[in-house]
Amino acid sequence: MEITAAGGPITNIAATTYVLPLAQGAKTLTGDLAAVDALMGGVIAGMLKDGLITGKGGEVTVLPAGRRLKAKRVVVAGVGERDKMTVDGVRDRAANLGRRLRDLNAGTVAFGVQEESARLDSADVGRATAEGLVLGLYRFDRHHTKASDKPSFTVGDVTVVESSARKATQSRAGVAEGVILGEATNFARDLGNEPSNLMTPTIVASRAQQMATELGLECRIIERAEAERLKMGSYLSVANGSMQPPKFIVLTYTGLRRKGGYIGLVGKGITFDTGGISLKPAEGMEAMKGDMTGAATVIGAISAIARLKLPVNVMAIAPCTENMPSGSATKPGDVVYAMDGQSIEVLNTDAEGRLVLADGIAFARQNGCTTLVDVATLTGAMSVALGNVRTGVFCNNDRLYGELEKASAASGEKIWRFPLDAEYFESIKSDVADIKNTGGRLAGSITAAKFIECFAGDTPWAHLDIAGVMSATADRGWKVKGNNGNPVRTLVHFVKGRAKA
Ligand code: BES
Ligand code: MN
Ligand code: ZN
Repeated sequence: MEITAAGGPITNIAATTYVLPLAQGAKTLTGDLAAVDALMGGVIAGMLKDGLITGKGGEVTVLPAGRRLKAKRVVVAGVGERDKMTVDGVRDRAANLGRRLRDLNAGTVAFGVQEESARLDSADVGRATAEGLVLGLYRFDRHHTKASDKPSFTVGDVTVVESSARKATQSRAGVAEGVILGEATNFARDLGNEPSNLMTPTIVASRAQQMATELGLECRIIERAEAERLKMGSYLSVANGSMQPPKFIVLTYTGLRRKGGYIGLVGKGITFDTGGISLKPAEGMEAMKGDMTGAATVIGAISAIARLKLPVNVMAIAPCTENMPSGSATKPGDVVYAMDGQSIEVLNTDAEGRLVLADGIAFARQNGCTTLVDVATLTGAMSVALGNVRTGVFCNNDRLYGELEKASAASGEKIWRFPLDAEYFESIKSDVADIKNTGGRLAGSITAAKFIECFAGDTPWAHLDIAGVMSATADRGWKVKGNNGNPVRTLVHFVKGRAKA
């Protein structure tokens, strides 16, 4: 599926299927919809008059096009009330429609967006439409060997049709960006969905390496021996129990000649979290193949940043390892040292995410990152607090949080800020080391963030706990069943905001 943009009228465009938006409450047909209807003998106007089509959001009406159009089929897509249209709505509608079009074996598609772009910015509409299609049509089905378990049809090339050549130019830029953002997210989803036997730290590293080679990024894989020399005792303590060699991945994108002042994106890369000696219960443990989603999203984000050639310097850091129990595993009560010298009492080996982030963040600061954003499937408590709707954000800098809020508004990946009051630190003070890796039952997501804050120090830092939003149980709008690659697009928008500043 290729997605491009063009100016109307849609009737000049040859495609198997025309998609035409209809607003709720419209009394008459206008623009392309009127032109198409005229060539269909007024069927749509008749249906509108009879209340068979209303334009209600989500309404989809499939009609045969007749002989006079350059299409076989016309899909009238309800977009709801005109003054309630949002970019998020455009993205979700495109995703839902994309799946319907696939079921319909729609072939090539001319996708009209005139109703949307009459009220919203054409570039935004183009971007959201492309994102919706690329994200909504994603499926992780590579391990189904029976054709009957895969969708029967695919969607052909899509032309986003604007009302004028001028709007089409804006739309084209938006579409190109939306495709890149969608593909980067799907790349992260692929890494996150893959089971742990097929996405070991070694495999994550080789996927990162391959992407880096394709896009001209610098890729450094820090092996166990080098991590030992660098004194990454906190990160390595998590790897102790695993047969799989740990891989600490560093991807560098230098979009500005001037070195230094990198934005550090640090992602938790636990390719499987059994809990270690503090073993998790069997029920639902398979979900922990997604415990490297933070790593997947920072790797995905930097791939989009490179493809967009943003004038900015970014480092994606992904400390990857399994968390396994074994004779060599770290035990509750063990004391380990992070690379910045801080000592940690490991009270619970299942609180391993903060241990790998400690060294990830310490490494970032020692290697020229002056802003830090970490992404991690860190605490079950986060899903208790926010469910699967919003990502919890912890931030030591109001300006940085403001930038993330803007980025989140652009991506539609929702966030919510949590507090970092000094009082919460009390519960992670240790009797035998500087800090301990669990803070008890209360405010589990916040005490986890307080732990990471110790390593961020005074560097502007934000921590995104994505444990709740990691995956979805059903297809809905841009989100699909399985891993969601959330928040790849927010990270890219954040970096893009920096590029302009
Ligand atoms: N990876 C888990 C958190 C998680 C749970 C992510 C469910 C996604 C879905 C993390 O490593 C973990 O085990 N956290 C513990 C921390 C506790 C031991 C302090 C938790 O949340 O129970
Ligand atoms: Mn854990
Ligand atoms: Zn974990």
